[in-house]
Amino acid sequence: MSELETRVGNWFEHLAEMTPDNLEARRDVELVITKLDDGQVRVAEVGADGSIVVHEWVKQAILLLFRLHGLKRMDVGPFEYLDKLELKSDYERRGVRVVPGASARRGSFLSPGVILMPSYVNIGAWVGRDSMVDTWATVGSCAQIGANVHLAGGVGIGGVLEPANAVPVVIEDDAFIGSRCMIVDGGRVGRGSVLGAGTILNPSIPVIDAESGEEVSRGYVPDYCVAVSASRRREYPGGEFFLPCVLIIKRLSEGERHSKVKLNDILRDHGVAT
Ligand SMILES: CC(C)(COP(=O)(O)OP(=O)(O)OC[C@H]1O[C@@H](n2cnc3c(N)ncnc32)[C@H](O)[C@@H]1OP(=O)(O)O)[C@@H](O)C(=O)NCCC(=O)NCCS
Repeated sequence: MSELETRVGNWFEHLAEMTPDNLEARRDVELVITKLDDGQVRVAEVGADGSIVVHEWVKQAILLLFRLHGLKRMDVGPFEYLDKLELKSDYERRGVRVVPGASARRGSFLSPGVILMPSYVNIGAWVGRDSMVDTWATVGSCAQIGANVHLAGGVGIGGVLEPANAVPVVIEDDAFIGSRCMIVDGGRVGRGSVLGAGTILNPSIPVIDAESGEEVSRGYVPDYCVAVSASRRREYPGGEFFLPCVLIIKRLSEGERHSKVKLNDILRDHGVAT
């Protein structure tokens, strides 16, 4: 455990008493946010055994940040904002393309090659190399998005800040998340998988294999699957209802790209994403 990690843990034990006057805590937290902003630390990652490792102390620093900063006014041309946190900057150096209307908070990390269409990326989020955050997509706090991922228009990736040990949403490399999908509360999409437009995924939602009819998980679409939104019949005392589920309709071979997703790659190469 690093010295910084220990200090953040100690400050976090006194979270309720923290105020903007605590300069020492501010200094420590600021150091963590700078490391997050530059991608030197991250909130969570997929470990060698495939499980998700959450670095709780990094999340604690983010929670402390909100206690340690007051509101301040920010003017951007005719726009006015009132917030505690700064926006990310220095995109040219980072090799990130940011279309007007997009904003990312300082303390999120955007890898080189990322494209932000008018969208939002919150603190603690990590977005991997060459990923596309399309128009009106939101990447919630601490969400971990892999490399070469496409979050299509209007996708909602939920933020998971509290409790500090909660597992964030994880989208692994090469995944394609269709328009208006909602993935929240630690939902996870595996490498190379395709999620059909409008799918809702969270750890309560069964993921069912259409071939076998078996429930393969709750809230986790495994690697190289094509999955869409479906419904399953449930009996309640009040009658028969249809609850949402996610249905795996196809399996891709490792490294394969779905033909409909390839089209989006072409659009991206030419920099004309919608
Ligand atoms: C998931 C997807 C890639 C599947 O494409 P596909 O492999 O060619 O599959 P098909 O279109 O043959 O559909 C297979 C079945 O799933 C159903 N299906 C497809 N997409 C679905 C969706 N989003 N939700 C629910 N069912 C869906 C089809 O109706 C079809 O049912 P059928 O077998 O009874 O005919 C595609 O439908 C999709 O949703 N693409 C995302 C589009 C998008 O968001 N673009 C972003 C632009 S910014």
